[in-house]
Amino acid sequence: MGEKARELAGSNVDRIVEELNKAYADEWLAFYQYWVTAKLLEGRYAGHVAGELTRLATEELEHADELAERIVQLGGRPLAHPKQWMEQSTCGYKEPPRDTKDLDKAIRDTIDGERCAISVYKKLSEMTRETDHVTFQLIQHILEEELEHEDTFENLL
Ligand SMILES: [Fe+2]
Ligand SMILES: [Fe+2]
Repeated sequence: MGEKARELAGSNVDRIVEELNKAYADEWLAFYQYWVTAKLLEGRYAGHVAGELTRLATEELEHADELAERIVQLGGRPLAHPKQWMEQSTCGYKEPPRDTKDLDKAIRDTIDGERCAISVYKKLSEMTRETDHVTFQLIQHILEEELEHEDTFENLL
């Protein structure tokens, strides 16, 4: 824990840690959703969609890593049991389509997930803008990538 980091983050540091942990749960679920969907998709254009899903999955995992580091710096504990991911997630988990040729459903589920992530990070931005500059910068970086993810998948429809 960084004592100075906590002090700099301001008086609502515990609330920030709580929201960072909810976003951390979202990132793990998004990682797994995209990763396993990429494995399952079949059909003519499946390779391209699966490639993009795998790229996103890698970036969601990086986001989880960055959030975990910041949570620890602020004296928190990243959710340490996977069952807590479902309990605390805002954006939830969408199982890959039953019909593994249904690329359209996989793409729409991804877009929904990205839009949810964008609202989560928008809220975290507002929460940290005035008080916690370090977290704010991290959130801007993640938010930019989520916006790019949404755009990429919109263009696949
Ligand atoms: Fe993410
Ligand atoms: Fe994303």
